[in-house]
Amino acid sequence: MAKQLISSSETKCVYRDGDLAIKEFCEGFPKAEVLNEALCTARVEDLPGLHVPKVLSVSVMDGKWSITREFIEGKTLQQLMDENPDKVQEYMEQMVDLQIDIHSKACPLLNKLKEKTIRALQEEEQLDANTRYDLLTRLDGMPKHTKLCHGDFEPSNIIVAADGAMYVVDWVHASQGNASADVARTYLLLSLKDAKKADMYMDMFCEKTGTEKRYVQGWLPIVAAAQLAKKRPEEKELLEKWVNVFPYE
Ligand SMILES: Nc1ncnc2c1ncn2[C@@H]1O[C@H](COP(=O)(O)OP(=O)(O)OP(=O)(O)O)[C@@H](O)[C@H]1O
Ligand SMILES: [Mg+2]
Repeated sequence: MAKQLISSSETKCVYRDGDLAIKEFCEGFPKAEVLNEALCTARVEDLPGLHVPKVLSVSVMDGKWSITREFIEGKTLQQLMDENPDKVQEYMEQMVDLQIDIHSKACPLLNKLKEKTIRALQEEEQLDANTRYDLLTRLDGMPKHTKLCHGDFEPSNIIVAADGAMYVVDWVHASQGNASADVARTYLLLSLKDAKKADMYMDMFCEKTGTEKRYVQGWLPIVAAAQLAKKRPEEKELLEKWVNVFPYE
């Protein structure tokens, strides 16, 4: 079977080659980021009770790095939500249950979410000094936890296999930390596409876990500021609003 393109973005493409899914990075993509993605995936792939396509090899050809993983036959939760709008609530529920399950695991060798976030805020050149200081102070006051956080948990990173098992991909931002930060990040990712879905998600997560919404909302300015680094013009307005609707106490 010839190599088939499954998905592509500016800097990477994912191909299917038989039983393999090959993520190919563009020329010049930082080697450390590729190896970090492979390492984070390797760290979580054997955690009991989680379905993660295993990394099989990392290679480089003509200056392009690639990560080869098991191919999972199925559709992403995003595709399923788009194809069956009447079932969005049901799919969202499955997604929230899966995220709660991920948060119940520990993976002590992953980076610490707080340290990663401090670095992201310090490096983010679009923040003025006062805002950066306020965000870092707020972050410093957040409780330190060590729950497994995916860091990019959204419907396009969940593949639902034919038997209903849900596989999670894209672990490059995985860390150990406070689950509410991970939830704020998912809320932000959903909001950038569909505010109604995002609110449904937040309500469900908070209800199922008995978490107060304001606790998750406290993380929003921080995760919004970190997302500014992606420099996506279409996201800028919403993100800046969130960074600046800073609930001063
Ligand atoms: N192992 C796999 N088996 C089947 N399909 C896969 C697999 N890995 C990725 N895919 C498909 O490719 C898409 C993109 O893969 P992935 O999420 O790993 O990369 P990405 O979203 O391009 O990366 P990033 O979010 O880091 O920019 C997924 O949404 C899924 O449809
Ligand atoms: Mg992805």
